[in-house]
Amino acid sequence: KNISLIGVPMDLGQMRRGVDMGPSAIRYAGAIQRLEQLGHQVEDLGDIQIDQAESVHMTDTNLRNLDAVVKGNMELADTVKEAKDKGHFPLILGGDHSIAIGSLAGIGQKYENLGVIWYDAHGDLNTGDTSPSGNIHGMPLAVSIGIGHSDLVNIHEYTPKVKPENIVIIGARSLDEGERELIKEKGIRVYTMHEIDRMGMTKVMEEAIQYLKENTDGVHLSLDLDGLDPSDAPGVGTPVNGGISYRESHLAMEMLAESDILTSAEFVEVNPILDEKNKTAAVAVALMGSLFGEKLL
Ligand code: ARG
Ligand code: MN
Ligand code: MN
Ligand code: MN
Repeated sequence: KNISLIGVPMDLGQMRRGVDMGPSAIRYAGAIQRLEQLGHQVEDLGDIQIDQAESVHMTDTNLRNLDAVVKGNMELADTVKEAKDKGHFPLILGGDHSIAIGSLAGIGQKYENLGVIWYDAHGDLNTGDTSPSGNIHGMPLAVSIGIGHSDLVNIHEYTPKVKPENIVIIGARSLDEGERELIKEKGIRVYTMHEIDRMGMTKVMEEAIQYLKENTDGVHLSLDLDGLDPSDAPGVGTPVNGGISYRESHLAMEMLAESDILTSAEFVEVNPILDEKNKTAAVAVALMGSLFGEKLL
């Protein structure tokens, strides 16, 4: 594959500092070498420019740092779109999860029926009105199906970026009231921890992959490291106990590699300040290895 690596040092979608160092932590953990060893061509496009948190003037507490988040995501959308235009596979490194707004804005216009796998403890389906925190990293999936503040929803002047029926959420174990309602109203497919425990990751991924294969023409993986259990991925800003294990996650990535359905991916929410000796970035890189074809034998 021709992979375009894009760093997004975004920390304005939530309140914990340090997640802006995610892209460097993931590069430092050896992402590029890992992918090159597998025979892929990696072009590192560097980092998108994001305003420094100290200099951002906050206006709306329901949508914290709205203008700066919009600005960063517009630039990201341009960069992702350019990579897609060249036929490359965009691999985006976060940064908090608000960057999925820009990733999907850039990718979405290339597909009639883009599919999304949202690997996360959370639904990220809030709006300014339903959010308990005002943090935009809890809103990107809602924004991408066209629900939320117009400045967010209309990036690259089209909406929605994704149809709700083309989304599969995996690993959910923390949903706010408004998010539950939206999931029901839109019929979004969700494999919560309950289904993962009950069916096993193999069956969950088989179902998800088959569904997306039949109904979409491209698939974006949006992997929030907090989807994993905090014992495996401690360096995240909003950890939730009882998560997906390291081994289940490798299995999921291997099955995605085998299916060859992915057309772009992002790894988000790695926060080195909260981490244990860069463990979470190392997990992200190990998962990338499996996702891009690593096999023991
Ligand atoms: N649901 C909570 C909120 O809206 C937490 C969201 C966490 N999102 C994330 N990408 N880590 O604030
Ligand atoms: Mn910063
Ligand atoms: Mn999350
Ligand atoms: Mn998330």
